Parts: sequence; C-alpha cells; structure tokens
Amino acid sequence: MRRPADIGAAVIGSGFIGTVHIEALRRMGVQVRGLLGSTPERGAQSAERLGVAHAYASLDDLLADDAVEVVHVTSPNHLHHPQVKAILAAGRHVVCEKPLAMTSAESAELVDLAAGSGRVNAVNFNIRFYPLNQHVSELVASGAIGDVRLVSGHYFQDWLLLETDWNWRLQPELGGALRAVGDIGSHWLDLMAFTTGLEVTEVMADLTTFIPTRKQPTGPVETFSTERASETVARPIGTEDTATILLRFSNGARGTVAISQLSPGRKNSLEYEIDGSAAAVSWDSEQPDQLWIGHREAANEILIRNPALMGDAGQAAAFLPGGHVEGFADTFRALFSAVYADVATGGPSAAPTYPTFAAGHDEMLVGDAVADSARSGRWTAVARETAIEPQLEGSVPS
Ligand SMILES: NC(=O)c1ccc[n+]([C@@H]2O[C@H](COP(=O)([O-])OP(=O)(O)OC[C@H]3O[C@@H](n4cnc5c(N)ncnc54)[C@H](O)[C@@H]3O)[C@@H](O)[C@H]2O)c1
Repeated sequence: MRRPADIGAAVIGSGFIGTVHIEALRRMGVQVRGLLGSTPERGAQSAERLGVAHAYASLDDLLADDAVEVVHVTSPNHLHHPQVKAILAAGRHVVCEKPLAMTSAESAELVDLAAGSGRVNAVNFNIRFYPLNQHVSELVASGAIGDVRLVSGHYFQDWLLLETDWNWRLQPELGGALRAVGDIGSHWLDLMAFTTGLEVTEVMADLTTFIPTRKQPTGPVETFSTERASETVARPIGTEDTATILLRFSNGARGTVAISQLSPGRKNSLEYEIDGSAAAVSWDSEQPDQLWIGHREAANEILIRNPALMGDAGQAAAFLPGGHVEGFADTFRALFSAVYADVATGGPSAAPTYPTFAAGHDEMLVGDAVADSARSGRWTAVARETAIEPQLEGSVPS
C-alpha cells in the first residue's frame, strides 16, 4: 500500500480555504509539490507565505508536473468546471471545493468525465467529516433513532451583514446564481443527505435579498475580511441574502432550514436536529465535539466526541482522544485521508466513504429546485433522472 508521503499533490488557489487544504495535506504527510495562484506573481507570494516549494505559472504548467497525482481545486466557483475538466483530461485525481460547478449541466458533465476517467473524484463537503457527524450517519443507519420524520436547522453567518461587505461570491458570474444557498446551504443539505441517508425530493423555497445595492471596493478583498475600503462603487445585488426552505425527503420525512449570511453574531453556525420515531439527535458546528441525543422515556444524553464511544466511521475521522477538542481544520484531514486511501490504490473504491462528484451534482440539482420554487412560489420536485421510491411509505402523512 502506498503511503501519503509517496503521493504528490498541487493546490489551485491559496485564499481562505486553499491554505486549509495545504495545511491538512502536510499533516497527512502528502508532498505538496506546488500551488497555482490567480497570477504567477500572486502565486509566488502565496508560496513564499505558506512555505510551499513552487508556484506554477499556469494550469498547463501544473499539469506538466508528472509528480502531481492529485489536484485540489480551491479557486472561486466559476473556475471549478474548466479547471476540473482540464485536470481529469490530464489523468489526475481531483478534490474540488463546493459547489462543484456553476450549473447542474456543468456538474453532470463532470460526473460523466470523472466516471470515464477512472480517477478519484471528491467534493469537499468537509462538514460530514466531523467525527460526530460520521457517528450520526452510523447511528441513523443502524436504526437507533427509528424512522426519520423531521429534519430541521439552520446555517447562519454574519460576514455579509453590511452594505460595505464585499466578496466575489456576490457576483453571480463568479459565484453562481444562488449565493447563500450555494455557498453554505449546500453544506447543510449535503450533511442532511449524508446523515439521514435520504434524498431531498421536493422543496418550497423563499429567497430574499435584503441589501439590493452594495458598495464594491475598487481593489481586491480577502474572504471574511472586515476591512473597509475607502473607494467603492455601487453594485446592484440580485442573489439571496437569506433563504427559508421547506423540504420533503425520499421516505416521506419533512424538513425546514433557514440559511443566512446576515445573522448578527453568527460567525459560522450550522445546526441541525433529526427527529426519529425512537430518538433524536442534534449538533451545532460551533460546539462540534458534542452531540445531543434526545429520548422520550429516558434522560437525554450529551455524547462528547470520543473514539472509544463511536462507531467505525466516527473513530476513523477522529485523531485525538476524547476531551481534546477537534475542529474545522481536522475535518479536511479526515476527508482527505479517506480520499487518499483511494488515490493510493489508483482509483475510486466501489463505495467511496467521501463525497464524490455525484454528491456535488446532487446538491446542484437540489439548488435548481430551490431556485425554480422561489421563482414560481410552488413546491418543486428535484429533477433527478430516476424517480425515487419512498422507503418508508405510509409512515408519514403526505
Ligand atoms: N468547504 C468549505 O468549508 C469551504 C469554505 C470556504 C470556501 N470554500 C470554497 O472554496 C472556494 C474558494 O473560496 P475561498 O473562501 O477560499 O475564496 P478566496 O477568495 O479566499 O480564495 C480564492 C483563491 O483563488 C485564487 N484564484 C483566483 N483566480 C484564480 C485562477 N484563475 N487560478 C488559480 N487561482 C485563482 C485567488 O487568488 C485566491 O487565492 C470556493 O469555491 C468556496 O465555495 C469551501
């Protein structure tokens, strides 16, 4: 079996999340051969800052490096599709940031190209890899909470609260037609699909833009930056600041989620509760080492993340003993560890334990239904190619 240290990787983008990718790869022992920035000069500056040996001049230059087997795509969303296509065409494995593409037509094409390539393909829905979320997935699958009936929660941030807050995500040609839903809602929706094992089949969505004009700085802005630019231009905004969505799941379960990028005080707050017929589970990303387990006939429980008290998947994602808090950056290492186990064998396993391009495409299809529903004001089915049979027909009134 090849070790991570035998595998070379390159990272495209070295902003907020590209830096986290590089650090996680290093912790695993993967050789980070180099990075690619928006320009050769900016790439060279990032390489210097991060202590990465090389800055590539272009994607062609990166793909000419025979020692690079895996490419991580952490550039802004509009670049994912063309860059992933080029990477797959060059025979490399890919880890792409979410959202996988700008449209579901693009993401469908990437699913096909990845399947044809035989290369490992992953979308970085890292929140699945908090150990307790892996544990919840196993708990639900084991039947410990009974039939899933109600799934509820939110994903709130506050970094786009002010009209002076700016980021490339506010430009639909760079970030996509859905903003809060595509950027953070996709994480919540993917996490619920993963933990419950269910698909969202229909949505009823309300999208709202509370700040219809923003002040765009004339210079570049870092993600999550709170600096105020002195020179700005007024830009009309059409993408949603908030979304409230009702959900129907493939087993007849119901759901509701609120998504917002302007919730004061909420820095990065993803919460969910899954109510089953026997028990409930609830988790909060700002307290990620604690899982609430609710009971009707017994005292409720708090499970503190602890490899000794979780199933195989929870244990595999945990690196430290209980009581030694793990967090956001650790989820990247856990997800990449699963991905690189497949890379070591040369291709995807029969049932990858990490989110593949298929999961990334599915979130794009759910996003399409959200956008259609918001436009029409009606319940809208997620347009998957094959119809999904209800698994627990009759358990929940339709
Ligand atoms: N999984 C997560 O938790 C998570 C969190 C944040 C961001 N993301 C995703 O990661 C991606 C990047 O987001 P970010 O917040 O790091 O943005 P960012 O603006 O901080 O970083 C983007 C980087 O891409 C680089 N870049 C721009 N054009 C490029 C080009 N042509 N070639 C190569 N590099 C280029 C920029 O110089 C910058 O280094 C987005 O798709 C976003 O959705 C995921």
